[in-house]
Amino acid sequence: MTNRQTIKHLTQTAMVTALIIVLGFFPGIPVGFIPVPIVLQNMGIFLAAELLGRKYGTIAVGLFLGLVALGLPLLSGGRGGAAIFLGPTGGYLVAWLLAPMLIGTLIKITRAMTSGYWWLEVGIVWLAGILFVDVIGASWLAVQSHMTLTAALLSNVAFLPGDIIKGTLAVFIARRVRAIVDFGLPA
Ligand code: BTN
Repeated sequence: MTNRQTIKHLTQTAMVTALIIVLGFFPGIPVGFIPVPIVLQNMGIFLAAELLGRKYGTIAVGLFLGLVALGLPLLSGGRGGAAIFLGPTGGYLVAWLLAPMLIGTLIKITRAMTSGYWWLEVGIVWLAGILFVDVIGASWLAVQSHMTLTAALLSNVAFLPGDIIKGTLAVFIARRVRAIVDFGLPA
């Protein structure tokens, strides 16, 4: 890869990090029965994976989480600080970091981007971006909030309708953007 390409990828990565930050301007919606809000910010994680792929998608999310850890108030509702990673939503945040790697790997293995089967890409985002994140998030929530794993997992069902809409939208938006902008991913 030439220096020029690397600079292009890093610029695109920074722009996606900025997008994740902007999505955090939308305040979280409390669900009431668990201390985890409905957020729009996870759509930024789906977009990072879909637009940047495994490596740069992980860098974009890692950069965002690094800034949060440093104390910048970039999470929905203006929250930030290293302690948040040990709070009720810590598992979701760790899963956000892993999701682009998982989504990108599944997309690569299944050749979802080159196959033309948009539903394959949607299915991968549902599996690795929604189900995976919810299971990791709920598992940590169960430990942190002294709930049973079953109760934590069941409470996450509340997120599914919104997450399915966000995940599906992210795939369609990313497919349109990739048709116009070269992200160095398969067409
Ligand atoms: C935070 O802001 O501290 C992280 C919030 C995590 C929210 C999770 S992500 C998956 C699920 N879908 C949502 O809309 N909310 C939860």
